[in-house]
Amino acid sequence: MKVLLVYAHPEPRSLTGSLRDVARETLQAEGHEVVVSDLYADGWKAEVDRADFPPLTPDARLKVPAASGEAFTAGALTADVVAEQEKLLWADALILLFPLWWFSMPAILKGWVDRVYAYGFGYGVGEHNDTRWGDRYGEGMLAGKRAMLVVTAGGWADHYSDRGINGPINDLLFPINHGILHYPGYDVLPPFVVYQADRVDEAGFEAVAEDLRERMRTLATTRPLPYRRQNGGDYLIPSMRLCDGLGAPGATGFALHLDGAERGRAADTAGD
Ligand SMILES: Cc1cc2nc3c(=O)[nH]c(=O)nc-3n(C[C@H](O)[C@H](O)[C@H](O)COP(=O)(O)O)c2cc1C
Repeated sequence: MKVLLVYAHPEPRSLTGSLRDVARETLQAEGHEVVVSDLYADGWKAEVDRADFPPLTPDARLKVPAASGEAFTAGALTADVVAEQEKLLWADALILLFPLWWFSMPAILKGWVDRVYAYGFGYGVGEHNDTRWGDRYGEGMLAGKRAMLVVTAGGWADHYSDRGINGPINDLLFPINHGILHYPGYDVLPPFVVYQADRVDEAGFEAVAEDLRERMRTLATTRPLPYRRQNGGDYLIPSMRLCDGLGAPGATGFALHLDGAERGRAADTAGD
């Protein structure tokens, strides 16, 4: 496989940086081709602004989706964005590696998503009609590819468990897994999360590294999270509400969007 690692940490000697090295070395040893986008080292520009859309005239009001779509269609996006889009199209699998900062990804990585997922590439893809609501959620430019998160978190696993005060980790990561990865098409694998990341000693690191090596060895075969396809009949169009009768009885929120949750399938695939 061809694998793109997008890595967001300012310190190469961090735990996240060491996990990037473990992932890269294991994947290469397995015979995969690996490319790394190191956002801090590359000086990635995180904010979306007018400079991203060269065709826009100086007096025109900036409407980001429209300007993004026009620049994408005209092949006029900036070279840094085009290079990342080409890497995404090249890769069979995408792995995002980052520390959990304020229950989400570092701003530089969010800015990578904001800029690289142009209109026509990450969103605004496909036709809208009575039976389809565009190509999204398992369909789209990146359909047929796999993606997963490698996340380090300072908090305890219990704090991120089903009744933990921080909220369940799979709920916190839902906007990234479902909203950023599944939306443009990816099959999303359960995340690899390291808890109490600031307290990992040498023995602890070796155990974490071995777990990650196993996840890298099984990258091509791990069963994806069972997100529902939006055009498969589970959702009403145009409201895009889940049809009555689907989902576990009484379930609300993110869990509704896991197919088979009513049969307990989500529980054994939902990751650490
Ligand atoms: C700005 C900032 C925000 C953080 N927010 C969280 C958080 O929301 N939840 C959490 O568990 N840890 C949080 N942490 C702790 C980091 O997740 C932890 O320091 C990091 O994963 C350690 O790995 P590293 O050595 O690769 O940086 C935060 C740390 C920083 C600097």
